Amino acid sequence: MSKQTRQDQPILRMENVSKVFGGVTALKNVNLDVFEGDVLGIIGPNGSGKTTIVNSITGFITLTSGRIYFRGKDITGKKAHKIADMGVTRTFQVMRPYYSLPAFKNLVIPLFSPRAKRTGGWRGGGTLGDRKTIAIDILEEIGFERDSYIPFKTTSTLPTGYLKRLELARCLALQPEVIICDEIFSGLSMSEIASMVPLIERLQDDGITIVMIEHRLRELFQVANRIMVLNFGEKLVEGVPDEVMADERVKEAYFGSEKMEEVMIYA
Ligand SMILES: Nc1ncnc2c1ncn2[C@@H]1O[C@H](COP(=O)(O)OP(=O)(O)O)[C@@H](O)[C@H]1O
Ligand SMILES: [Mg+2]
Repeated sequence: MSKQTRQDQPILRMENVSKVFGGVTALKNVNLDVFEGDVLGIIGPNGSGKTTIVNSITGFITLTSGRIYFRGKDITGKKAHKIADMGVTRTFQVMRPYYSLPAFKNLVIPLFSPRAKRTGGWRGGGTLGDRKTIAIDILEEIGFERDSYIPFKTTSTLPTGYLKRLELARCLALQPEVIICDEIFSGLSMSEIASMVPLIERLQDDGITIVMIEHRLRELFQVANRIMVLNFGEKLVEGVPDEVMADERVKEAYFGSEKMEEVMIYA
C-alpha cells in the first residue's frame, strides 16, 4: 500500500513515553509519530504494552514520564474526556457499551457531548436536532441494517460483531480526527473481519487518522501503511509492512520460529 500521508507535522506524537505499574515496566521510552491520514498498525506479543499505548494517548492513565502531543499541542496529563473532545477517540479491547440500552441510544449519549454539538456530529450533519436519526445513520454507515430491528435491540443481546461496530460508531458520533482501535477484529469470524476491512478503508478515505492495535496480521497489513512492533514495552521496529515482515528481529522476537506465512494466515 503506497498511500501518501502528510509528513510535515505529526497529528500525534509520543515523546519518550514510559509507564511503570508497580514493578512492571509496561512502556519504556517509546517515541512515535502518527501522521494525518495514516493507518498505523501496532503489533506485539501479549503484554508488550499495546493497550498501555492506547491508554496513554487517550488520557486513561497517567504517564510515568514522557510527553504526548496532538497537532503540536501538549496533551500530557489531560483528562480522557478532554482528549476525546479534541477529536482523539478510542475503542476498548473489552467492549464498554451501555448494555441495558437499545443499540442506537449508545450514540445518542455521545451525540449530546460538547464536541458533537460544536461539529454537528457525524459528517457535520446539521443541527443535531434529531439525534435518533443521526444515531441510526451512523449505525447504518458502520454496517447495521437500517430498516431492520437491530439498531433498536437491547445492546446486551447483540452478537460480538455488532458490539465491535458499535465501539467504532461511538467514536464516529464525535466526528473524530483520530480513532485508536484496540483489537477491533478479535473475537470476530473470518467473514466479519473481511467485512470490516472496507469499513476501515472508508474511514481513512473520510480523512480520519487510524491507529490499529491488532493481532490479525493479514487484515492489518491490508489496510496499514506503517507498522510499529512493540516488544516488552519497547519499540522494536517501525516501517512499512513489507520491511517489518522481512525484519529478522521481528521474526525472532514476535514470531519465534514460526514461518511468517503461517502467522499471516493463522495469527
Ligand atoms: N492497570 C495495570 N496495573 C498493573 N499492570 C498493568 C496494568 N495495565 C497493564 N499492566 C501490565 O503492563 C504490561 C502491558 O500490558 P498491556 O498494555 O495491556 O499489553 P498488551 O495490550 O500489549 O497485551 C503487562 O505486563 C500488564 O500486565
Ligand atoms: Mg491489549
